[in-house]
Formats: sequence, structure tokens, C-alpha cells
Amino acid sequence: MMKKIVVIPGDGIGGEITRSAVEVLKKTDEKFRLGLSYEEHDAGGTAYDKFGTPLPESTLEACKQADAVLFGAVGGEKWDNVEPSLRPEKAILGLRKGLGLYANLRPVKVADALVEYSPLKPELVKGVDLVIVRELVGGIYFGDRCESEQHNGAERAWDLENYSVPEVERIAKLAFETAKVRRGKVTSVDKANVLATSRLWRRTVTKLAGEHKDVELNHLYVDNCAMQLAVRPTQFDVIVTGNLFGDILSDEAAVIGGSIGLMPSASIGELTSLYEPIHGSAPDIAGKGIANPMGTILSAAMLLRYSLGLEKEADALDAAVSAALDAGLRTADIAGKGDVSLSTQQMGQAIRSRLC
Ligand code: IPM
Ligand code: MN
Repeated sequence: MMKKIVVIPGDGIGGEITRSAVEVLKKTDEKFRLGLSYEEHDAGGTAYDKFGTPLPESTLEACKQADAVLFGAVGGEKWDNVEPSLRPEKAILGLRKGLGLYANLRPVKVADALVEYSPLKPELVKGVDLVIVRELVGGIYFGDRCESEQHNGAERAWDLENYSVPEVERIAKLAFETAKVRRGKVTSVDKANVLATSRLWRRTVTKLAGEHKDVELNHLYVDNCAMQLAVRPTQFDVIVTGNLFGDILSDEAAVIGGSIGLMPSASIGELTSLYEPIHGSAPDIAGKGIANPMGTILSAAMLLRYSLGLEKEADALDAAVSAALDAGLRTADIAGKGDVSLSTQQMGQAIRSRLC
């Protein structure tokens, strides 16, 4: 049985990094005979330029038919003045909604080889191993909004946040289950001292904890959590939070590991799931061939693990990335003084040759 992977390069460095990850997947396939097939589709600004829409119906349909989706990145200054509903970002938001990708898992594991590259002191980041479980299809991202209206003689805009109990239960359940196969600790993050949605969030998570007695639960306000991530990141195992807070905290947590270019993610849906690096389209370095492909390659490993149940193969991919790092190989984003910076292609090749 062939397994179909839809590949969406998107914009900016998306093409370079997905190409690199697909080459690594193909090598994995050769080794382990997985029977993977690939189908490339457009989304983002590139799709807008070609078809006048950031998410063509054919792309969404193809994703629905796929066993998994590998996504690069979307966005870029070029489309900054496009009408809001047609912005490149609408592609990823539309895919999340259209595929029901309700949970975004963003693991941050600091490789010993990279401890020195973190903006935090080495002794603070050594051993960091956490995962952010971000709610992905609700909250303020998908609430009603108004781009512009007159109110008391002034122009204003607004975005509404809402969360329902089932939405919170669904994501919290996944967080508890994730914690059970890790270190058994969940930190739920909200702003319950101010927001009604956060109070409902906290009540719901607390209630659900009753069904998961083997997991330790604590709550943090989002501002405090942002600080704790910088002060003592090793305290975290699983962080569960809403869409907007998760967006912000996951960028902060990612950089603890030395470079956002290393960080993968999995967006889990009921049917298909989507895998993407969290770094975005990086238009400033697009086309230069210097982007770090590791975030995408590690996302491909998550794809093998979660969508295809290929644990051993996913481990092999993770190990190949670690081996490249341990051997001192660096792309520009993680190169220290005196390090040679490999190109995207060279790093991809180095990882492929370490697959065993
Ligand atoms: C992310 C990105 C997206 C988000 C953008 C591109 C819409 O920042 O995946 O974190 O805000 O969710
Ligand atoms: Mn983000």
C-alpha cells in the first residue's frame, strides 16, 4: 500500500527546506521500503499569484485525500498589502480549519551539542525537553473580527476570543495523554486573572485532571510562563495553552534550543495531520540556499511517527539529525565563531548519509 504525502512548499524558503526533507524521506524509504509517494501542491502567496487565492480548493482536497501533509512556510512582504482574507497566512489557517487540525505539538529538546548556541546560559538550557500543545482551530484566531468601523467618532477594529468546553477538553485530553508517555507533568497556561475565556479554560482543565490522576497539573498565567521559560525552562514537561498564547510561547521556547530553524511541529487532526517547521518563510534568506533544513526534516520524522506509525524509521531520522549536529555540522543560523556554514543542500546530504 502506497502512502501518499502531500507536499506544500509554499513561499520563501519553503521550497528549499521541503525539497531537502523529501530527499531525506526518499532515502529513508530506500532503506526501509516504506512505499511513500509524493504530490506537490500550491499554497500561500505563490498560490495567490498563480490562482488569485492562497488556498486553492484543489490543494485542500488533495490534503484531505492524503495520508499526511508536509508543509514548508507561507508569507512574505510581497503580499503585505493584499486584502486580509487573501493573505498568504490564510492558507495555513484555512488548512488548519479545513482539515480540523485541532492540536499543534511543538517539541523543544535542546541537543547537548547546541547548548552553547542558546541565548540563555548553558546551565539553564542543558536538559530542556518540553512540548507545547497549542490549541489550533479556535480562540481569537478564528473568532469574529472587524477590520474597521466607526465607534464614538473614532476608527476601531476588534477580534473576538471564544472557547467552548468541548474545545478545551479535546486539547487538554491530548496534553494529559502526551504527558503520560513523558514525565507526567502538565502546565496549563492562561490569563485567568483577566479573561473569561481563560477562566473557563482553567475550570475545564482542572476538572479533566480528575480523570488523569497520574498526571501532575499546575497552572501559570501566560506572562509568568513567558518569564519562567527564560528563567528555568527545565521545569516544563507539557505546556497546554490556547491558540494565541501558544503561538507566542512556542517562538520563545524554540529559540531556547539555539535556533528556531531546528524546531519541528505536528498539527494533529481527526483524519489527516500536517507537519511543518515553525520558523516561517524567512524571505530575507529565501533563494540563497542557506536555510537550515533540520526543522523540516524533524517534522518529517514526526510525520512518520504520528501519521504512519513508523517509530523505528522516525527514530532513525531523529538520530541522523543528532549525528550531524554532534559531528559539528552547522548551517548559518547555528554557526558559531570559526564554524563553516553548510548550505541547505549540504546539510540535507550530510543527514542522508547518516541515516542508518
Ligand atoms: C505559526 C505561524 C502562524 C500562526 C501564521 C503564519 C499564521 O506564526 O504557525 O506559528 O500564527 O499560527
Ligand atoms: Mn507563530
